[in-house]
Amino acid sequence: MTVLQNDTFLRALLRQPVEYTPIWMMRQAGRYLPEYRATRAQAGGFLDLCKNTELATEVTIQPLERFDLDAAILFSDILTVPDAMGLGLYFETGEGPKFQNPIQNEQAVSQLRVPDMANLRYVFDAVASIRKALNGRVPLIGFSGSPFTLACYMVEGGGSKEFRTIKSMMYSRPDLLHKILDVNAQAVTAYLNEQIAHGAQAVQIFDTWGGVLSHTAFREFSLQYMKQIVSGLKRENEGRQVPVIVFTKGGGQWLEHLADCGADALGLDWTTDLAQARARVGNKVALQGNFDPFALFGSPENIRTEVSRILGEFGHGTGHVFNLGHGINQHTDPEHAKILVDAVHELSRQYHQ
Ligand code: CP3
Repeated sequence: MTVLQNDTFLRALLRQPVEYTPIWMMRQAGRYLPEYRATRAQAGGFLDLCKNTELATEVTIQPLERFDLDAAILFSDILTVPDAMGLGLYFETGEGPKFQNPIQNEQAVSQLRVPDMANLRYVFDAVASIRKALNGRVPLIGFSGSPFTLACYMVEGGGSKEFRTIKSMMYSRPDLLHKILDVNAQAVTAYLNEQIAHGAQAVQIFDTWGGVLSHTAFREFSLQYMKQIVSGLKRENEGRQVPVIVFTKGGGQWLEHLADCGADALGLDWTTDLAQARARVGNKVALQGNFDPFALFGSPENIRTEVSRILGEFGHGTGHVFNLGHGINQHTDPEHAKILVDAVHELSRQYHQ
């Protein structure tokens, strides 16, 4: 077992003392990097890249070669799980993800099963390979979609603006949606536990679409199932705690409820005031966020100003992991991402003395 040289990220998630505020960026490996686009072309396409152990390892490491990041995130996608259930994931250029066999009626729901984890072996192989390549440089984050966010794609058959199909199901046949969510929660629990067993040192649940629900529906159709997952996760491996991060985009109004879900940390988007969020969650969880990814389109001075505002909002002490409030945009200038990462390290030291 190699020694972890930089565990700042893991310590901040567990609210242990740190010397500076650690940072990673959602979607840090991706299309804004020319070297990523080159490797993807070499693989053939995005899914081929995810399934190629060597190339998935390479693109995971790429952002670490450019920026002084405090964590790596597995290169994969949340939709690997429904793909393994037989829904037939494919990507059409410029159109985002699609499923050949969406789950839109009672018969499809009744046939839905927790997939054989052997179908996801390529993901676990990537985790093990990335850990080896990192050689203790920084921790590796594993991840999954939340049951509700996965269900959005599974029921809609792809991305959506209105979520008409899944909300129609939710309001007309809640029993069907609950059945899907239950299968998803069991699948995600097994999937994340396998990632942990193969070397993921922290895990994040992406609840990208939880924020489109009403406050009562959020608890019934999203939060409840994330709680179920968190309670089923293996929280220790290789003699270290494996922190769990829950990120509900648009979930800023429900922080008290989210803070009780059993996770170690909550991800926040840019609409939430970090000072207020910290006061609301108290000592229950660490917070991760919450720089607007489009602020990277501002000038270097404005990026630094924004960083210092966010660090100042969180204030002194540990329990903050700096991140974007959502994935980095594909048109971002990589030089600006570097300015962000360096500014966080430089400007945060004063809050950890
Ligand atoms: O953060 C990382 O660097 C790790 C990799 C990662 C990807 N997807 C790679 C990816 C992670 C953590 C995800 C999560 C994911 N995937 C989410 C949750 C987070 C979020 O952004 O809301 C969702 C909803 C998906 C589903 C998905 N995958 C969409 C909607 C798209 C197309 C839209 C887009 O932004 O490209 C994808 C494709 C995808 N996943 C790409 C990457 C790098 C782009 C594919 C390409 O190279 O063309």
